[in-house]
Amino acid sequence: MTALDLPRSVSVRAAAKINLHLGVGAVRDDGFHPLETVYQAISLYDDVTLASSVVRARGLECADYIDAGDVPLGDDNIAFRALDLVRARTGRPGHESVNILKSIPVAGGMAGGSADAAATLLAYDRLHALDLPDAVLLQLAAELGSDVPFSLVGGTARGRGRGEVVQPLDDRGTWWWVAVASDVGLSTPEVYRHHDRLFPDAPTEPAEPADLLAALATGEPLRLARTLHKDLQAPAVDLRPELGTLIDRGEGEGALRGIVSGSGPTCIFLCDSLDGAHAVVAGLQGAGHDVVLIANGPVAGAHLLEHP
Ligand code: C5P
Repeated sequence: MTALDLPRSVSVRAAAKINLHLGVGAVRDDGFHPLETVYQAISLYDDVTLASSVVRARGLECADYIDAGDVPLGDDNIAFRALDLVRARTGRPGHESVNILKSIPVAGGMAGGSADAAATLLAYDRLHALDLPDAVLLQLAAELGSDVPFSLVGGTARGRGRGEVVQPLDDRGTWWWVAVASDVGLSTPEVYRHHDRLFPDAPTEPAEPADLLAALATGEPLRLARTLHKDLQAPAVDLRPELGTLIDRGEGEGALRGIVSGSGPTCIFLCDSLDGAHAVVAGLQGAGHDVVLIANGPVAGAHLLEHP
């Protein structure tokens, strides 16, 4: 591809993630926790558009259930850090404008920031026709955050290390989820610190999620529901008891199982079908929850939307 053929703008879509299993070990010397996790990408998406530009410009559009004021537009936004990182490593001159179209709830637990970072890395690669090897993109992603490599890979995948070592899993099921966002955030480091207080004897290596992997292979929602497990659920619910009430309520409305997503505060509910998910949404909305979304998984990782 010659410079004249290069696209002037590129849009990449990246999905929200949930953790079906999150085993957390004792804190490491670098302050991170060793994880045994199973990620799934679900059908709530952010789109990042990068365009060649004479100036650095940043834009944001949000779904109606997202408060744009909750999204940082400075250098603390991980998407802009991703752009700075990949530009610094590849040494391309010039500037790009970045526009983020956000549908992944912001309050936490669904890796919306990680999705934006992954989308930005891929968009930069395609905009400049760099054709960086997957290993390089994954390495850059890992430098940005523990969940960012998974946002590139998508599907259903096992995560180890601090979450950045991702191995895709064969998952032919279609799983239906209801996600309930909270309008009050919950600090991820605080939930991990509370985990350490509650579980001072956590193992150095968290156990393999053998039961969950076996349940995934069956494609049966009830079997998967029984094996969902989160070591961060107890600390998150201890810090925010209303999350426990929400989980009980969702299960009372017919969800097979409710869990805290990531480190919270978003909660997700596995349902037996799309109809089952609609019933849970109606019940939770009736109980006063505003942002209740249906999504299915697994879906693809970060991918190009258009190449004008
Ligand atoms: O990697 P990421 O920036 O997403 O991590 C955010 C915070 O979550 C870390 O600073 C750390 O406090 C906590 N964390 C952890 N162990 C992990 C992943 C995250 O303690 N495996």
